[in-house]
Amino acid sequence: MSGIVYLVGAGPGDPRLLTLRGAEVLQRADVVVYDRLAPAALLDLAPGGAERVDAGKARGRAALSQGAINRVLVDRGRRGLEVVRLKGGDPFVFGRGGEEALALAEAGVRFEIVPGVSAAVAAPAYAGIPVTHRGLATSYAVISATLAGGAPADLARTAAAADTLVLLMAAERLGEVCAQLIAAGRPADQPAAVISSASTAAQQVLTGTLAELAATEAGVDPPATLVCGPSVALADALAWSTPSTSAEPARASGPQLFGRSAR
Ligand SMILES: C[S@@+](CC[C@H](N)C(=O)[O-])C[C@H]1O[C@@H](n2cnc3c(N)ncnc32)[C@H](O)[C@@H]1O
Repeated sequence: MSGIVYLVGAGPGDPRLLTLRGAEVLQRADVVVYDRLAPAALLDLAPGGAERVDAGKARGRAALSQGAINRVLVDRGRRGLEVVRLKGGDPFVFGRGGEEALALAEAGVRFEIVPGVSAAVAAPAYAGIPVTHRGLATSYAVISATLAGGAPADLARTAAAADTLVLLMAAERLGEVCAQLIAAGRPADQPAAVISSASTAAQQVLTGTLAELAATEAGVDPPATLVCGPSVALADALAWSTPSTSAEPARASGPQLFGRSAR
């Protein structure tokens, strides 16, 4: 009898952001294949005897190659097992979930997609930034700043894609990415923010204009999401996660860095 593989989105970091469906299938999994960005605490939901496979994907480095991951999923599915493929955020948003689903479809193994809370909307939300807002932003685009293999993406093509741009995989090249966006026509004084480790105790938010972020030397630890557009200006008014006492004092101008503890 064929098993089934669940491609489950684990959410952006806080394990409580897993969906009920995700928790349900994890609790009866025979096998869990997990990425580094999936919250480690979620592995405790799986039965003690479940096989746990570390796919270890982090910033382009993988403990297992994509081909090896696909083979594990197909092999365990063919053995009649219930497999959870646990991925950070949503499996179909820059998560290679489509590639894994194709491998399963080609092998004739049943699968189900369990969507997750993507960092693309959760990271801005944790910084008090609505990606759309009546009168300010009627569209948003989610863009990868880095291509497969680590090459920089061509942002000239996508910089005008929407009122709000959400850029994933931009942390290592923050200044360069902001400068590219300005060169491609985004206003240099457009509000921008970079949110790192959103929804976790390590969350940090760096705000400023695109030009200020292009010039900043402040380091940003991955995983981090860059967002720019008119609605980013609401971040101060909508900050629902109060800056911690260790936050640096706000400066009169220039980027502001807030360390914010998730509730
Ligand atoms: C390979 S992509 C995977 C995205 C994931 N499938 C999703 O829907 O959130 C990884 C990127 O997501 C973003 N990211 C993931 N978790 C994040 C977090 N907790 N805070 C900020 N950005 C995050 C970062 O831009 C990171 O480089």
